[in-house]
Amino acid sequence: MFSSACKGGISIATLNADTASFWTRNLRDHALFVYDTLSPQEESERQRALYYLRWFDARLKEGSTASTDTLASGAESLRVFLLHLLRRQLTEGLSMLLTPTYLSHTVSESEEALRVLGSGPSRSSLDPQLRSHLLWLPILAGDAFVIQGALDEIEKELIRLYIGHAHRFEETYAYAVELAGFLRTGLTDFPAMDRFRDMVRREISAFLLSLRELERLEAGNLVLDKLPLVFVEHVRREAEFYLGTLG
Ligand SMILES: [Fe+2]
Repeated sequence: MFSSACKGGISIATLNADTASFWTRNLRDHALFVYDTLSPQEESERQRALYYLRWFDARLKEGSTASTDTLASGAESLRVFLLHLLRRQLTEGLSMLLTPTYLSHTVSESEEALRVLGSGPSRSSLDPQLRSHLLWLPILAGDAFVIQGALDEIEKELIRLYIGHAHRFEETYAYAVELAGFLRTGLTDFPAMDRFRDMVRREISAFLLSLRELERLEAGNLVLDKLPLVFVEHVRREAEFYLGTLG
């Protein structure tokens, strides 16, 4: 489907190893979620998803010997596949449990992976932190909605908790969109921007507390839901990564 051998690729060691490992695992998880949620009626799409799952698993095993070019070719190929699924969902219909918004977020994450790996558009005019907010806030809002929707209806307290997280991430996203407009003044830092960063850090930290508690409940089979633990771990890694980009 795509070549894993790229001559002259930069070793992952020249990129931040943690960043490369985060994106490899992140894209691998997306392939897993697609594979797990496609109906058996979509066998050929499931086989493609399985291919990506195995491909990214192999890159994870290679660790720091995989090149950024190789990873970028995988990320680009996966991005095209995810867009193909999204197009089918929006037109003819696709027998799959992921929503179009969730699929679209996985495309955004593939685009960010490509940018980090040096193969995507740089959009250098946008402040890096604000770009991070505009990428991750809607993704975390969507993740929180997915989690609450997968909880058993009798888990009222947890459902309220995750709906609360989703709403606060959406409100914070609306704030970030306006801040992006304020940067047209040429300012990059002003008091309200500092307060916004603190607000975001507090919200992500609160979300991480909830996720770690949910992981504990999942691991002990203490919560009623249809959530796989791997999904909660995936969301927790995304929230930690986002928090890390805020310095
Ligand atoms: Fe994700």
